[in-house]
Amino acid sequence: MKIRFEKSDIKNIKADAYLFLVYQDKTLFENELKLIQKQLKCKITDVSLEDFEGKEKQTTLIYSNDHRIILSGVGLKDKVSLEKMRKATARGAKKAKSLKIKKFAIEIIQDDPMGAEIEDVARAEAIGAILALYSFDKYFTKKDTKEISTIREIIFFTQTNSFAKYSKEIESGVKSGNVIANSTNFARDLGNEPSNIIYPESLADLLKERSESKKYSVEVLDKKAIEDLKMGGVLEVARGSDREPRFLILRYNGGQESDKPVVIVGKGVTFDSGGISIKPAAGMALMKMDMGGAAAVIGIFEAISQLGINQNVIGLIPSVENMPGGNSFKPGDIITAYNGMTIEVDNTDAEGRLILADALSYASQFNPKYVIDMATLTGAAIIAIGNVSSIVMGNDQDLIDKLFIAGEQTYDRVWQLPLWEEYDKMIDSDVADVKNTGTGRQAGTITAGMFLKRFVGDYPWAHIDIASTAMRDSESEYNPKNATGSGVRLVTQFLMNESKNN
Ligand code: BES
Ligand code: MN
Ligand code: ZN
Repeated sequence: MKIRFEKSDIKNIKADAYLFLVYQDKTLFENELKLIQKQLKCKITDVSLEDFEGKEKQTTLIYSNDHRIILSGVGLKDKVSLEKMRKATARGAKKAKSLKIKKFAIEIIQDDPMGAEIEDVARAEAIGAILALYSFDKYFTKKDTKEISTIREIIFFTQTNSFAKYSKEIESGVKSGNVIANSTNFARDLGNEPSNIIYPESLADLLKERSESKKYSVEVLDKKAIEDLKMGGVLEVARGSDREPRFLILRYNGGQESDKPVVIVGKGVTFDSGGISIKPAAGMALMKMDMGGAAAVIGIFEAISQLGINQNVIGLIPSVENMPGGNSFKPGDIITAYNGMTIEVDNTDAEGRLILADALSYASQFNPKYVIDMATLTGAAIIAIGNVSSIVMGNDQDLIDKLFIAGEQTYDRVWQLPLWEEYDKMIDSDVADVKNTGTGRQAGTITAGMFLKRFVGDYPWAHIDIASTAMRDSESEYNPKNATGSGVRLVTQFLMNESKNN
């Protein structure tokens, strides 16, 4: 899909449909309609204020003599937010998709009653539209299914009187929005790919090849290298599968050589059957998306390398397939992690924390400024918060606050749970340094966080449990069913903010 900002008058744009965001305000709406008719040099024939008032969630398709015009409501002007703009643009884009058109024009709304920068508005609208048009359709052999968007080009434009004044800001917002949305969509693709296509070795190969044309590098540690490093968590979880594990190290150097890097870690379980502690059959297919953390890390590298942020960033992806088999690790086994600590395996389905234990202790050698891990770690996170937010925990309130702010900016949100010491004894083991499950069904998300904390080195750290957001069972305005790419927009925004503060 081609995305651009048209720096001239709207009448120069020939599109198959035009989207305008409108406020819920009769006078503003009537003025907007007059303006549209003047600018497009057309006559709107069939709009009735009773049918469409610009309320949130309202969209309508109206016709002029020779134009299709989509109106999407953003609600009351004094209650508007970037998220309402994302959603309204997303609804309008879906309406356009249903028309099976090729060329789509979207107005960047100019006045900013919430005091946002016009660049942020442009970015929000671009992201809303591009994310909304995503579909995972490569395996349909008949290409005329309704899932597939025919839109090939989106042209953003703004009102005649403001394109000259703000064109630099709008262009930059559209451009960064395009990068961020496409990187998110790439993470969605990785999540949606089934485990017979994406497994640790193929993920490594794909990334290695892709990075050759990109401004980041990928180092792949194979099974032998992982054995040499004695990463017991990765090796033991991988044992039951015919697929070998891989440990990926991504590097992006946007900062000064002496700048400490931000290390981002992603759980890369390409399929989680549960292992010997096998999961029930119903819903197990979802576990092809158990590499959502890894997909987020990859999406973030895609984004920051194109945005050119001035930070050094290291990505660590331990990748395994968790399978039952004659050679599997088993409940009761005691394994030794990369840092030498012993772990009693109480449940082979608590595998994510085992591979993250290795990655988090491995992270110390980079002398990190921050370490942020992302993982589809616990079903309990879904129970706790639903698919509205991810959960954040950690040892550094400043870092957590910064992630919270980036979450509010993007609506790829996080909400904090505590890592109080009272939870720590729940993961004590009778026979090893630590046990990989907590006590009964209590505080499942927190005890997973407490487990990780034991492997965290002397650096500021935040753990983001994206189990609640990475996979959805229904679509929302701009999040599809299945893999969502959650974490990409959040951490990219966090890194953009860090970049500004530098
Ligand atoms: N990958 C799962 C967590 C998960 C479940 C993510 C559902 C998304 C949707 C993880 O490896 C897991 O199985 N966790 C167990 C831990 C338990 C055995 C302590 C869980 O949450 O049940
Ligand atoms: Mn599991
Ligand atoms: Zn898992």
